[in-house]
Amino acid sequence: MADGAAWWQSGVIYQVYPRSFQDSNGDGVGDLPGILARLDHLQALGVDALWVSPIYPSPMADFGYDVSDYTGIHPLFGTMEDFDRLLAELHRRGMKLILDFVPNHSSDRHPWFQASRSSRDDPKRDWYIWRDPAPDGGPPNNWLSEFGGGAWEWDAATGQYYYHAYLKEQPDLNWRNPALRDAMLDALRVWLDRGVDGFRVDAIHHLIKDAQFRDNPPNPGWREGMSPVRRVIRLHTVDQPEVHDAIAAMRRVADGYGPDRLLIGEAYLPIDQLMAYYGADLTGFQLPFNFHLLSTPWEAKTLAALIRTYEAALPPGGWPNWVLGNHDRSRVASRLGRGQARVAAMLLLTLRGTPTLYQGDEIGMTDVDIPPDRVQDPWEKNIPGLGLGRDPVRTPIPWDDRPRGGFTTGEPWLPLGPDHDRVNVAAQAADPSSMLALHRALLALRRAEPALSVGRYEPVSAENDILSYERRHGTGRFRVLLNLSAGERMVDAVPDAAHIRLSTHLDRGGEPVSGILRLRPDEGVVIGFDDKGKGGE
Ligand code: GLC
Repeated sequence: MADGAAWWQSGVIYQVYPRSFQDSNGDGVGDLPGILARLDHLQALGVDALWVSPIYPSPMADFGYDVSDYTGIHPLFGTMEDFDRLLAELHRRGMKLILDFVPNHSSDRHPWFQASRSSRDDPKRDWYIWRDPAPDGGPPNNWLSEFGGGAWEWDAATGQYYYHAYLKEQPDLNWRNPALRDAMLDALRVWLDRGVDGFRVDAIHHLIKDAQFRDNPPNPGWREGMSPVRRVIRLHTVDQPEVHDAIAAMRRVADGYGPDRLLIGEAYLPIDQLMAYYGADLTGFQLPFNFHLLSTPWEAKTLAALIRTYEAALPPGGWPNWVLGNHDRSRVASRLGRGQARVAAMLLLTLRGTPTLYQGDEIGMTDVDIPPDRVQDPWEKNIPGLGLGRDPVRTPIPWDDRPRGGFTTGEPWLPLGPDHDRVNVAAQAADPSSMLALHRALLALRRAEPALSVGRYEPVSAENDILSYERRHGTGRFRVLLNLSAGERMVDAVPDAAHIRLSTHLDRGGEPVSGILRLRPDEGVVIGFDDKGKGGE
C-alpha cells in the first residue's frame, strides 16, 4: 500500500470469470476449488484483489447473471465451505475478494419472482415491474431488451407484462419498492458479514426506469448491423437520476463495515454521465468502471485526449480507474494485435488509477472462434452473426500444453483456443520474454514505485504515434513512452540522467537514455529519472 492510499487505490484488480478459470472436478466448468488451486499464479503475477463473476445459484440462462439466490453458492462452483476456504486463503496471502452483485434483475426462478407472478395481490408483486397492456393489448411501451426483442414479457396467468432489460429469464427488480431495496441490501450484508472486501455492481445504469414509462425516442444514428436495442435512445430506461439514491444506500451498507470495503459500478456511459456515479460528495461508487479504453481509437492523440478529458472530469477526490478487457468485450490482443497488446498492458499499468485486468489477458489470449454448435451465449443465440456473442472472450484459461490445457479433465464448456499449446501459463512462466513475464514485471515495478500507482499524471506529448506522459510522487519521476505503431520511431529530447526501467520487449532494463531514443515497433518503455534509474527488468 503506497503512502496512506487505500488498498483499492494503489492495488490492481484481476477479474476471474469462474466458469473458465480452473475446473477441479472434471465437469468442464471452473469452480471455487479451482480458483483456490491457482492462487500461486495470481500471487506470482502480483495482483491485489480478485473480482469473481457470479457464483450464486442460477439457472445459467445468462451464465450466472441470472441469480436465483443472492446469498448461496451454486453447486457447480462448490459449497459455502469452499467459498470460506477461498476467502480465508486470499486474506492469508494479503489479497482481497470482490463479489459480483447483480441488483438490476434476478432469475425468473428466484422465489421472489415466483411469488410475484403468482397473483396480482401477492405481497411481492411490486418487487418486480408489472404493467397493464397498451390499449391494443400489446406491450405497455416501446422499450427493448439488450439481448434482442422487446423488453416486456406477457404473463397470461395474471394478465400483465413484466419488464426485463436483458433476457425474459431476468426480470427487472423494482428498486422503487422499499421492501425490495431492504432485501437486496440485506444480501450485501450477508457477504460483508462473511468478510468479503467489496462488490462489483452489475448493470447499475439500468437500475431505475422512468416512473411514467414513457416511450424511448428513435435513434437516428442506428444502422443495419448495430445491436437492435440501439434502434432507440435509452432515455427513459438507463441512467435515471434516482439511481444515485440507491447507490448511496449500497455505499452506506458497505461503509458500515469500515472504510476498506469497495464498491465498483458497471455502467457503460459517456465520461460526463459516468462522473455522477461517484455520488454527491463521493457517496456513490469508489470506482465507477471507466470502459473508455475499450472503445477509443488506438491512436496517440485520441488516447491522450481521453486521458486528459477523464482526468479533468473527475470530481474532487474521485479516484480514477482503467479497464482493458472483461467477459463482455473482445480481448485486447484481438482488438489491437499481440504487439500492441503489450503496449496496452504498459499503458494500463502505468496510468494513474486502479487497473482491472481480465483473466487470460496476462498471457495474451485472443478471441476464440466458436463453432455454431458450441455457441452458449444467449445474446449470440438471439441475434446471431452481428458479433455480439461473448463466448469468444470467455474460453477457458490454458494452464499448460496438455490437451485441455490443464483446465479440465472433462469436456470444457467452451473450446480452448487453437494456440493453447503455445499460449499457456506454464510455457510463458518459463519464457523470460513472454506476455506473462511482462505483466509480472509491470506489476512488480508498479508495486515498487508509488509514483506509478498513486503519483501525479502529467501529459508530455502525443505525436508521431508516440504517447508520452510522466508520473511523479515524492522524489520518484518516471516517463512512459509508448510506440503505438508497428514501425520504428525516434523520440527526441529525452532528458538525460535517466535509465530505462522496463521495455515491453523486456531486454533494455538499465540502459542509459539521453537525447534521442529509438523505439522499436510495438515498443513501450518506462524511463526512470534520478538515482533510482539503474537496474530494472
Ligand atoms: C453485465 C454483465 C453481463 C451480463 C449483463 C446482465 O453487463 O457484465 O455479462 O450479461 O450485465 O446481467
